[in-house]
Amino acid sequence: MDLQDDELTDAVVGSFAGSGSERYKEVMGALVRHLHAFAREVDLTEDEYFTAIEFLTRTGQISTGTRQEFVLLADVLGLSMLTVGLGNRKPKEATQSTVFGPFFVEGSPEVQLGDDISNGAPGQPCLVSGRVLNTKGEPIAGALVETWQADEDGFYDVQKDLDRPQNRAHLTTDADGNYKFWAVKPVAYPIPDDGPVGELLRAGGRGPMRPAHIHFMVTAPGYARLITHVFANGDEYLHTDAVFGVKQSLIADFVEHHEDGKTYYTVDYDLVLATIEETRQ
Ligand code: BEZ
Ligand code: FE
Repeated sequence: MDLQDDELTDAVVGSFAGSGSERYKEVMGALVRHLHAFAREVDLTEDEYFTAIEFLTRTGQISTGTRQEFVLLADVLGLSMLTVGLGNRKPKEATQSTVFGPFFVEGSPEVQLGDDISNGAPGQPCLVSGRVLNTKGEPIAGALVETWQADEDGFYDVQKDLDRPQNRAHLTTDADGNYKFWAVKPVAYPIPDDGPVGELLRAGGRGPMRPAHIHFMVTAPGYARLITHVFANGDEYLHTDAVFGVKQSLIADFVEHHEDGKTYYTVDYDLVLATIEETRQ
């Protein structure tokens, strides 16, 4: 009762003392201390507080199963990449991880090596291949490779009104660890910016663009799950990714080919998994 501002923080932190979980107390205690410190540091006004509540309310209201505005918010604030870094400390030989993003969908079609997963999506054909390896350079047979990407117009299938998946599939590596599929050449695209997160970006003088990339999620027994992208070398947005996800080691050449009057691209990128023991959580 009658708590002074400087007593309030300790009172709220202490209010969690009855929790049966030490981790819960640690996380909630730190959250409250940092939130209160933030409000004190900026001398938060009541108007600003109500504006923030209204912003978060609209972030929730626009969210659906396929429009994940809270994921976008975490992404543009760098929280996603910070968490990726904290959760994926692994040997330098392993492929680096990057942001998951909001466009993964469970239950993608299963395809065979060499299949075309574009399913009629607009774009230039692109053969995507490589091997799944361990940190000793040995192939991992039977690894599950999930992939998803945007089309030439910068849209994922889930952003369009489609009755079939496009540029989204999973396959299993062969005995030599190979994966291979045809999709379309990815292009740079804006993250959805017609909602609260778009307002936040514009207010900060920031752009919504992500450099061209292909998403991968790779799993194999005994190995830590790899969530990453392969970025297109030369893309103009590599240094200004709206979600801070680019790492130099994830940039690959998409090589242009001409055959029989047609143009297609190839990209070859090995995906290296760390074992669970090699990945310090
Ligand atoms: C994506 O690459 O799919 C993505 C990641 C973060 C925010 C929006 C999109
Ligand atoms: Fe993406």
